[in-house]
Amino acid sequence: MKRDIQQAKYLLDSGEVVGMPTETVYGLAARIDMPEGIKKIFSTKERPFFDPLIVHVSSIEQAKTVTAYWGSVAQILAQSFWPGPLTMILPKGDRVNEMITSGLDSVGIRMPSHPAALELLNAVGTPLAAPSANKFGKTSPTSAEHVKSEFNNQVFVLDGGACEVGIESTVLLVKEKQNGVMLSILRKGHVLQSDIQKVLSQYSVPFEFVDKVDKKESPGHMKHHYMPEIPLIVVNHQMHPTDLMQQINKRFREIPDVVEEVKIIKPNEQITDFTVLSLSEDPLIASREFYSQLRKLGSGKNQCIVFYKTSVHQGERWDSLMDRMNKAASLIF
Ligand code: TXA
Ligand code: MG
Repeated sequence: MKRDIQQAKYLLDSGEVVGMPTETVYGLAARIDMPEGIKKIFSTKERPFFDPLIVHVSSIEQAKTVTAYWGSVAQILAQSFWPGPLTMILPKGDRVNEMITSGLDSVGIRMPSHPAALELLNAVGTPLAAPSANKFGKTSPTSAEHVKSEFNNQVFVLDGGACEVGIESTVLLVKEKQNGVMLSILRKGHVLQSDIQKVLSQYSVPFEFVDKVDKKESPGHMKHHYMPEIPLIVVNHQMHPTDLMQQINKRFREIPDVVEEVKIIKPNEQITDFTVLSLSEDPLIASREFYSQLRKLGSGKNQCIVFYKTSVHQGERWDSLMDRMNKAASLIF
């Protein structure tokens, strides 16, 4: 591992991008002070410049160097949930260039818990911007092999094994004011709203969760995302397979090809068969296996993937996975 860390550091210091393991999903990393590396993140991923990147840090001290204001709530939440899958959106410091934040005056920051990510961040000594290491709109990678195949072996990947959490971090907008803090979850993840509420209730900070957020404050959240190579179809109620197949073919003729700049995955011809995605009944295990299952089922001869959503998949602990499921779906019944 030591040699791989050195190799990754060398590439990052030369303005290259590197595949970095984290506990959530693999990231495509570049140094925040190397604009050519940041540009390469966008070009390698074919990601539009309107979607800002998360900055990864190795300590709270380092997080403070990329923010304009670090208040008591940021401190409490960082101490409680870092290192781990919580990204906080905070006022951006001057050190962070506008390409990283898509011109916003806020910056997304998290300290990952994967030991190899921390080792790399410490070796480099500068925060690393890293979105998930997949082509824009596609399934996130949860192993080094996923990243290598996504970019045709053109990217060096630090192999940290399979990701433990398996879906991306919770993204939390934090707006501290004199009389308290306003919080909004922009992307659900392993850290739940109830976890955050529990922690903040122990301190005497008034807080409020707000659901509705201005689209400008959350530019990267499109209707479709995470889509596998073949269509995923989510079915919310009992349907006879023949009837379902007919409905699928009908709906595919009706829906647009592109929604909010994301190409919708459609079958090449009429579908005559489908394979079923089955996941663990434990939401933690189901989240861990979700993206790799999508990749596996999408790489063979299958025509499309069907997921039957049932009463098992309800409740806060399933929300983040069901959010990814619905966005990855080409059709929902
Ligand atoms: O778990 C994760 O968060 C992974 C690993 C690699 O850390 N990263 C990840 O990055 O999922 P990405 O780029 O795929 O998703 C980051 C999301 C985007 O939807 C982006 O729009 C949002 O975070 N985001 C980043 N900075 C933001 C900001 N300043 N304001 C609002 N949203 C922001
Ligand atoms: Mg992503």
